[in-house]
Amino acid sequence: MKPNLDLTGKVALVTGGGSGIGQGIARMFASLGASVAVADLDLSGAESTAHALEAEGHPALALEVDVQTADSVDAMVTRTIESLGGLDILVNSAGVGSESMIVDMLEEEWDWVLGVNLKGTFLCTRAAARWWIAQKRPGKIINLSSINETVPLAGEVHYCASKGGVMMFTRAAALELAPYRIHVNALAPGMIETPLTEEVTQIPELRRMHLKQVPFGRFGQPEDVARAAAFLASEWSDWVTGHTLFVDGGMHLVGEESYVWAMERAMRHDDSIPRVPLCWPPGALEDKAGDS
Ligand SMILES: NC(=O)c1ccc[n+]([C@@H]2O[C@H](COP(=O)([O-])OP(=O)(O)OC[C@H]3O[C@@H](n4cnc5c(N)ncnc54)[C@H](O)[C@@H]3O)[C@@H](O)[C@H]2O)c1
Repeated sequence: MKPNLDLTGKVALVTGGGSGIGQGIARMFASLGASVAVADLDLSGAESTAHALEAEGHPALALEVDVQTADSVDAMVTRTIESLGGLDILVNSAGVGSESMIVDMLEEEWDWVLGVNLKGTFLCTRAAARWWIAQKRPGKIINLSSINETVPLAGEVHYCASKGGVMMFTRAAALELAPYRIHVNALAPGMIETPLTEEVTQIPELRRMHLKQVPFGRFGQPEDVARAAAFLASEWSDWVTGHTLFVDGGMHLVGEESYVWAMERAMRHDDSIPRVPLCWPPGALEDKAGDS
C-alpha cells in the first residue's frame, strides 16, 4: 500500500482554529478529507471557520473552549468524539503573546501566556491521550511551537519560555506516548501573517526590519504552516516523533539578528539607553579612541 497525504475518514480537532494558523490547518485538513472540529475561545471565529468548511461540503463542528481550563478541554474532546465519531489528530494551535519588558511584566501576563501556550497544550494532550489509550487507538498530536523555542526574543520572555516549554513537552510526551502509538511533534513557524503578528507586519518600518531576517525574503502565510501540518498528520510522517519542524523560510538561522531587535525594544522602553552602532562589540568604541 502506498502511503499518502489523504486524510479521508480521519477526525481532526484544531484548537485556535478560529483564526490564523489554526484556521489554515483546519482548511487544509478538510481539503484532504478529514472531518474537523474547530475549537476556540472566540466561538464566532470557530463558527465562521466551520461554516466555511461546511459550505465547501466538508463535515465540521464549531466548539467554544478555554484551553487553560481542564473541564472545558475535556468537554471539547468529548463533544468532538460524540459528534464526529472519533478522534485521530489533535492540533494545539491556540496561543497568545504580548510585548512586555521583564521589569513591567505583570504576574497575570506571565500566567496568561504560559497558561494558554504551555498548560493548554498539556491539558489538550492529556484529554486526547486518555481517550486514545482507553480505546487502544493510535493518535497524532501537532503542537504549535515557534522559532522562539530556541531563538530568544527580548520583550517576550514569557512567550519564549512557553515555547521552549512546548519543545520539551513535545519531546517528553513523544517518548512517553510512543508505546501507545501516539505521535507527538511540533511545528515552529517564523513570522506568519496572522492577527497575532499584525503589530509587526502592518507597520512598514517594522515590516522591513523583520523581512531582513527571513532568508527567503517574505513572511509566511497560514497555508505554509498548514502544508507541514498535513505531513505530520498523515502517514508520511509515521516514523517521525518528538521532532520540531521549523517552518520559517530560514528565519531561525539568523537568530543573532534578534539582538538588534532587543536594542530597539530597550530604546523604545527607555530613552536614556544610548544609540550605538550595533555591529561593534562592547569596548570597540573605546579601543578605537585609544588607537587615534
Ligand atoms: N503567527 C506567527 O507568526 C506565529 C509564529 C510562531 C508561532 N506561532 C504560534 O502559532 C499558534 C497560532 O498563532 P496565530 O498566529 O494563528 O494566532 P491567532 O491570534 O491568529 O490565533 C490564535 C487563536 O487562539 C485563540 N485562543 C487564544 N486564547 C485561547 C484560549 N485560552 N483557549 C482557546 N483558544 C484561545 C484565539 O482566539 C485565536 O483564535 C500560536 O500558538 C502561536 O504562538 C505563530
